[in-house]
Amino acid sequence: MCGIIAYSGGRIAESILIDGLKRLEYRGYDSAGLAVARRKKMTVVRAVGKVSDLEKKLARRKLAGHYGMAHTRWATHGRPSEQNAHPHGDCQGKISIVHNGIIENYQDLKEELIAQKHVFTSQTDSEVVAHLVEEYFDGDLETAVLKTVQRLQGTFGLAVMHADIDRQIVMVKRGSPIIIGIGENEYFAASDAMALLPYTEKIISLNDDEMAVLNAGGYYIKNLNNELLEREIEICAGRDYLADKKGYEHFMLKEIFEQPEAIENAFRGRLVEAEGVSKLGGLEPVLERLKNMKKLIIVSCGTSYYAGLLGRYIFENLTALHVEVEVASEFRYRKLKMNEDTVVLALSQSGETADTIAAIREAKRKGALILGVVNVVGSAIAQITAAGVYNHAGPEFGVASTKIYTSQLVILTLIALLIGRYQDVSYNEGSEVIQAIKKLPKQVEKILADMEHVRALAQAYAPFEDFLFIGRLFNYPTAMEGALKLKEISYIHAEGYAAGEMKHGPISLIDENFPTVAIVSQDCTFDKMLSNIQEIKARNGRVLSVASQGCGRVRDVCDDVIWVPETLPLLQPILNIVPLQLFAYFIARERGCDIDKPRNLAKSVTVE
Ligand code: F6R
Repeated sequence: MCGIIAYSGGRIAESILIDGLKRLEYRGYDSAGLAVARRKKMTVVRAVGKVSDLEKKLARRKLAGHYGMAHTRWATHGRPSEQNAHPHGDCQGKISIVHNGIIENYQDLKEELIAQKHVFTSQTDSEVVAHLVEEYFDGDLETAVLKTVQRLQGTFGLAVMHADIDRQIVMVKRGSPIIIGIGENEYFAASDAMALLPYTEKIISLNDDEMAVLNAGGYYIKNLNNELLEREIEICAGRDYLADKKGYEHFMLKEIFEQPEAIENAFRGRLVEAEGVSKLGGLEPVLERLKNMKKLIIVSCGTSYYAGLLGRYIFENLTALHVEVEVASEFRYRKLKMNEDTVVLALSQSGETADTIAAIREAKRKGALILGVVNVVGSAIAQITAAGVYNHAGPEFGVASTKIYTSQLVILTLIALLIGRYQDVSYNEGSEVIQAIKKLPKQVEKILADMEHVRALAQAYAPFEDFLFIGRLFNYPTAMEGALKLKEISYIHAEGYAAGEMKHGPISLIDENFPTVAIVSQDCTFDKMLSNIQEIKARNGRVLSVASQGCGRVRDVCDDVIWVPETLPLLQPILNIVPLQLFAYFIARERGCDIDKPRNLAKSVTVE
C-alpha cells in the first residue's frame, strides 16, 4: 500500500525521491507526489496515476533542494486525485507531511482545526497532521510533531518537514513501518528498506512510538517522552535482491521461477534425516509449550489464508491437534475459545498485514502463544510473535503471491512434522515426508520446463470470462488459490470450490462458455473427481485438468491436461499450484493486464 521515502543530505533530493518511489511501486498505489524545500520555499508536485506521470510533471520544472519527501498513495479516505495525493501541507505552504496508516479521530480534529480557521484542501485523514503541526509550530518542528502525535489516534508512519528549517526531517512511527537509512553525511527514511538499499545498507527500524530527527549534521532517535534513545545500526543484507527482473518480463514470472530455490531455502538446514524430524531454531524457545498445546488456530489473509487452509490438512495428517483456520479480519471479532494451551500461528509474506496484526494482538490478550511464519525479516508480525520461522525466500515484488505460498506450505509441513514426531508419527513416516520434501525443487523445475504447454493452453482459454476451479481434500484449497491467482491479475471471474459442493449450486452455471479447471491427484478422492468431471462434460462444460502422473484415466474425460510429477498427497498442492500460477500469468498477459500491479490491489495491506 502507501509508501514513503525521505532524504536529507548533500545531493539533489528529487532524483533520489523519484528513484525511491519507483522501488516502492510494487506495493500498489494510485497517485504519487513529492515535496522539496529550498531557500525557505516548499515546492509540492503531485499526480494521479503512476510515478512516471509524476515524472512528466516534474520534467517541466527543476527542483534543486537538498531535502524532501515523497509518497505513493493507495486511496482509503477520498478517491485517487491530485488534491488527495500526498504530501499534504499547512495553510502557509511551509510544512509538508506524508503519512501511512489511518488517523481514526481525524473528523474530530478536522472540525476543531476548521473552527480555528484552518483551510483544508483534501478529503484525506492525513491532512489534519499538517494543520496540527502548523498549530503547534513555534520555531521548533520536533516539539510541534511531538505535540501533534499526542493528539492522534490510529496508526501512522509520518514524515514532516518545514521550509524554514534547512534539511530537517522528523519521522514518527506507530503501527506503520519507518526505516532510517544512514549514509555518509546524508540520511534517508522510508516505509520499506527496499527503497533505501541502493544508497545504504545501514538501517535502523523505528519501534512504535519512536521519533527520528534527520538533520544536516546528523540524526538522533527519541521516544515520545522526548528522551534520547541509543539504537544500534543494523546491516540490511538484501542488496542482492534489489528490484530487478533479471531478464523476466514481470516480477511474477521471475518469482514463479524462483520457487525451486525458495522451497529449498524453506527446508535447508531444517531437516534431521537421522531422526526423521525437522529442526526449527526459531521455535526452540517455545518447544515445551508446543509439545503441550491442545489447539492450533492459523490466522492469515488472501493467499496466506489458503496456505493456512492447507496447513489444517497437513496438521491433521501429521499431528493429533485440533486445528482451526480463520480469516484474520474475522478472527478478531469472533468469540473463539483460547487459553495457554492454544497456539495461534500467523502466516504472512509481508509481516505487515493489518488484519493479521490485529488478530494476533487479540489472541495475545487471551493468553495464546503466538507464532509467525513470515518472509520479511524484522517486520511487525515478526516483532509481535513469541517465536516463529522465516521463509528466507527473498523479497516478493509481484502483487500476486507465488513463491511465498509454496514456501509457506513447506514450512507448515516442517512445523507439523516437528510436533507430529512427539505424537504418532513414526520414524519411517517422518523419513518419508523428508525424502519427499527434498525432491520438491527438482519436481517444480520439471513443471516449469513445461511452460510452453501452459502458455498455449492459456492462449486458448483467455477469451472466457468465467472459470470454476474444483478439487477435493488437499486440492480444495489449491482450487481456491488457483481461482484467486486468475481473478486478481486477469480480472476474469473465477471461483474455487470443493468439487463435492458443485452439485449443490455451481453446476447450474456450467455450459460451453464456463470452463472448469479440475485438480486431480492419485489419492482417495480420485474416482469421485472423475465423476465430477464427467458431470461437467455431460453439460457441455470444457474441462482443463491439472493431474499428477499416476492419474492416466483423466486423459479420457478432460479436454486438456497439464501433467505434474507425483509426490505424497500432503505435498502435492506444492506442485499442483505451479502450473495454475503460470496459467493465470499467461492469461493475464494475453489480455494485456498490468500483471505486477493489478488494479486496486496492494502488496502490503496495511489497513483493516
Ligand atoms: C494474493 C496475495 C494476497 C496476500 C494477502 C496477505 O496473491 O498476495 O492475497 O496473500 O494480502 O498478505 P501477507 O501474506 O503479506 O499477510
